[in-house]
Amino acid sequence: MILSGMPEEVTIVGEVLPFDEKIELENWKDKHVSIKDYLDYHRKSIEELEEFWGSVAKELEWFKPWEKVLEEGDHPYVYKWFKGGKINLSYLALDRHVKSWRKNKLAYIWEGEPVNEKGEPKEVKKLTYHELWQMVNRVSHILKNFGLKKGDKIAIYLPMIPELPIFMLAASRLGIIFTVIFSGFTAENLSSRMNDLGAKLLITVDGFYRRGKVINLKEIADKALTLSPQIEKVVVVKRLNLKVNMVEGRDYWLNDLLDKVPYSANAEPELLESEYPLYVLFTSGTTGKPKGIIHDNGGYATLLHATMKWVFDIKDEDIYFCTADIGWVTGHSYIVYGPLIEGATILMYEGTPDYPAPDRWWSMIERYGVTIFYTTPTAVRMLMRFGDEYVKKHDLSSLRLIHSVGEPINPSAWRWLFDVIGEKRCPVGSTWWMTETGGILISHLPGKALIPLKPGTNGLPIFGVDADVVDDNGNSVPLGKKGYLVIKKPWPGMPSAPTGMLGDPERYRKVYFERFPGKGYFLCSDYAVKDKDEYIWVAGRADEVLKVSGHRIGTYELESVLVSHKAVTEAAVAGKPDPIKGEVPIAYVVLKQGFEANSKLIEELKRWVREKHGPVSVPESIFFVNKLPKTRSGKIMRRLIKAFTSGASLGDVSTLEDEAAVEEVKGAYEELMKSMKASK
Ligand code: WT7
Repeated sequence: MILSGMPEEVTIVGEVLPFDEKIELENWKDKHVSIKDYLDYHRKSIEELEEFWGSVAKELEWFKPWEKVLEEGDHPYVYKWFKGGKINLSYLALDRHVKSWRKNKLAYIWEGEPVNEKGEPKEVKKLTYHELWQMVNRVSHILKNFGLKKGDKIAIYLPMIPELPIFMLAASRLGIIFTVIFSGFTAENLSSRMNDLGAKLLITVDGFYRRGKVINLKEIADKALTLSPQIEKVVVVKRLNLKVNMVEGRDYWLNDLLDKVPYSANAEPELLESEYPLYVLFTSGTTGKPKGIIHDNGGYATLLHATMKWVFDIKDEDIYFCTADIGWVTGHSYIVYGPLIEGATILMYEGTPDYPAPDRWWSMIERYGVTIFYTTPTAVRMLMRFGDEYVKKHDLSSLRLIHSVGEPINPSAWRWLFDVIGEKRCPVGSTWWMTETGGILISHLPGKALIPLKPGTNGLPIFGVDADVVDDNGNSVPLGKKGYLVIKKPWPGMPSAPTGMLGDPERYRKVYFERFPGKGYFLCSDYAVKDKDEYIWVAGRADEVLKVSGHRIGTYELESVLVSHKAVTEAAVAGKPDPIKGEVPIAYVVLKQGFEANSKLIEELKRWVREKHGPVSVPESIFFVNKLPKTRSGKIMRRLIKAFTSGASLGDVSTLEDEAAVEEVKGAYEELMKSMKASK
């Protein structure tokens, strides 16, 4: 991993960071605190870490109280939170509310595509907590009837339809470990994740709408199933009534199965050990295949409960809208478990923000009176381009709180959210976290203690989280200097037992804890700066991971896809800054003998990546080069390629390659320039 020789300049999408700008909101006066008071309380919370998180966890309902807040697990750095405690997230999300006045409160408002020009949907479904609870119970019965029980594994390949949270909740009710595969993923992606988890059952759909087009998901699933023979049963949701291939004895329509389950069917929630796995979610890293991150029940629920209250200030009156897809961790934590545990009303939709017009979200905010809006910088940058008229067509006065997530937010995108969407009335934050962290770890806390806003900052670590920015030796950097973001103490919601990372506790230790040996610091692999108020500004990845429109893509994975094409012998991929997507992949490719470098081959390779790895990964440009720059020991000079791609000058890169002489780096750089010209 490349972790030394970091350039000093800190910008987000080319914009300078306004470290000194402070904004306080008159209408949030009662929540504002001084930075000093925040830091004092924060210090106490991490000094008394176990007492602190114990007091938060007590606010949840446990079947059995824990014996110990935090205990070392069976592998290094794989901790057990709330050891001895028993809990169930489906119970917390549903049964608790059904027993209360919230029984008839709306849990989900779902809006489908298609939408007419005025932005009005044809299909809207509203599910109360009671209806959701009933459906989850019936679906739990279906899973049980397939013989599935605690510890079994299933895969869920569904788009943004209500059945997605329903199946997640049914699985977690029974202690069945699930993995959700994003509906935009290819058959190869689906199959390898199902195989890695050892799933026995797959849940999918006939098809769904995206930008006015029908996506036939069952067809993709069928392709994946040929590569995953261990899948015994497939449940298919009927969304569009498409004619699909159904294999007798293997494939079942959900509605046929539901016909046999009475409304009164009741599936008792399993009493799950706090550290028992809830789900596995795959995410890209520096090398190798995507890693299956394991999240537990008790610690995860505790972090979600805390952040829903502190970060989102969630209240019973709120209409809460997170624009993510549930296929990513943001949706798991903040469209499903987090807001449901709090008994919130959640808006969920099928489609995209710019179809049929770039005001789909603004029309939804108006239509349902959304109060809390959680979105991404890429979408904001894209929607900003269409001008303010699309926003002004709608009444957004219901909004009271806005957050962003997924990648750094540049100050001008932040300002647009603050001025135009939030009309200077709403706090706007940038919540930092990762698939691995389970929930938000660095953020403004409008629901608990609000420090002044700054355009583009992540703010301070939340209470109970010891985040810091350190240098190459693991020492805190001086304020204003760039370094690596680390989490110094365990936090609830972190990757969990039994192995942190699916099947590979050793890889888990190596990837996250080896960089600063013996210190126990979790390496986030992000560059960050702490300003003089100690606010953290995460400025991008410090490893070979790209963030394209907020999606996490491993360059190694993408290179492997390119090399699997018959014309390619070697490939290197690097990120280029992009004003909308944040970053786009650029590929440098060495061809095998006998293949001609031409534009047809470029198109063919792009098509190949789209098919094998998905549309987000398609390189913006592919350059044919005669050879890739390598060190004497034969390693690709990644930093050189990265710097070259991002437009840094040779002066910046010559110091960056440890193993190569300056002359060598220079030669490689010139060679790269030359072959790029040749391939135009
Ligand atoms: C990486 C994790 C968290 C759910 C979605 C992404 C980047 C995430 C921010 C933010 C700056 C951010 C980091 C991190 N990131 N949020 N608010 N400001 N960077 O989860 O796909 O696991 O990606 O996303 O680089 O390491 P993920």
